[in-house]
Amino acid sequence: MTDRPSAGPLSLVTGAAGFIGSHLVERLLAAGRHVRGVDSFTGYYDPQLKRANLGQALAHPRFEMVAADITHSETDALVAGAETIFHLAGQPGVSDSWTKFPDYVQGNVVSTQRLLEAARRAGVGRFVLASSSSVYGDTVEDPSQEDDPVAPLSPYGLTKVSAEALCSLYASEWKVPTVALRYFTVYGPRQRPDMAIHRLIRGVLEGRPFTLRGDGTQQRAFTYVDDVVDATLAAAATDIEAGTSINVGAARCVSLTEVMELVEQLSGQVLRLDLREAEPGAVHRTAACTDRARQLLGWEPQTTLLRGIEKQLSWQEASASAPARRGQSLLHARRRLEEIAHAP
Ligand SMILES: NC(=O)c1ccc[n+]([C@@H]2O[C@H](COP(=O)([O-])OP(=O)(O)OC[C@H]3O[C@@H](n4cnc5c(N)ncnc54)[C@H](O)[C@@H]3O)[C@@H](O)[C@H]2O)c1
Repeated sequence: MTDRPSAGPLSLVTGAAGFIGSHLVERLLAAGRHVRGVDSFTGYYDPQLKRANLGQALAHPRFEMVAADITHSETDALVAGAETIFHLAGQPGVSDSWTKFPDYVQGNVVSTQRLLEAARRAGVGRFVLASSSSVYGDTVEDPSQEDDPVAPLSPYGLTKVSAEALCSLYASEWKVPTVALRYFTVYGPRQRPDMAIHRLIRGVLEGRPFTLRGDGTQQRAFTYVDDVVDATLAAAATDIEAGTSINVGAARCVSLTEVMELVEQLSGQVLRLDLREAEPGAVHRTAACTDRARQLLGWEPQTTLLRGIEKQLSWQEASASAPARRGQSLLHARRRLEEIAHAP
């Protein structure tokens, strides 16, 4: 690890090259923080995309990037000097978690325990864990509340329950000031290529069928990435009882069919579908009760689904490999947004 250019509060961001982590890095730098990013550039999706996510941050004088795997590296060195740890590194995705369970245990449980041990020894001021709505399983009626029993439907969800349990243990036994944020389906620019909104926008941009798993009635509290970063920063800046879990999810839950219609409207393209069975372990509905986030963090999501999808569409179009379509849907999206804004 290199010496930092000048002393100042240091934030450690694990998973810094990932979808959410890279947005968090940018926001911390913009807020004047010193940031150490750690990422092992796993092959879950193309590591080149992760390098691109880091973009200009790599050249920033207050940013230090360490390519390291938390499950094997010397964690004391990674944590040294950090006031806050944002632990976003992890093995995401529900479907692979059945067949590649050891990767999920390593990526989500072992990595968390190793980092908590280092955080304990270093005496960090705050440890923020990226947990998931997957801890709840299906939400049948009222939106999920943090004190509801956990009931994951996938091995992925189970590893997030375990990571949260470790945070609670280190909070109660060692007074590590942990907070677990249960992110609900996050979307926006740089969204992982395996996620539904990314795949369906890619479908319209490339004129290829979108593989719809299930019948489209499944509902999610789709949450825009900037809002998720707002909550994550607030969790580090607020005095919250150690071991607390907090939902970070949009207030409205929306069906995938509604998202598909929105993307068609905004892009002016018709989506072709390749229909498949629902994935084992995929929940039918997630819905977030955000009372605790409002009370403890003063957090409210700010981005409408329409605006957020438009931003993701613009980003995917700008980075698309199909130049013939580049520009077309963006223009259409801008026109549609103006029409909607001026509608009586
Ligand atoms: N995206 C979502 O909708 C969502 C929802 C709930 C929870 N989460 C959680 O938020 C976190 C970030 O998710 P994302 O969508 O940005 O995923 P991502 O895959 O884009 O980012 C995770 C990053 O962690 C890195 N990583 C994985 N294992 C590592 C290890 N052992 N050491 C160092 N780096 C490692 C990966 O290379 C990757 O760049 C994950 O923990 C995920 O489980 C995400």
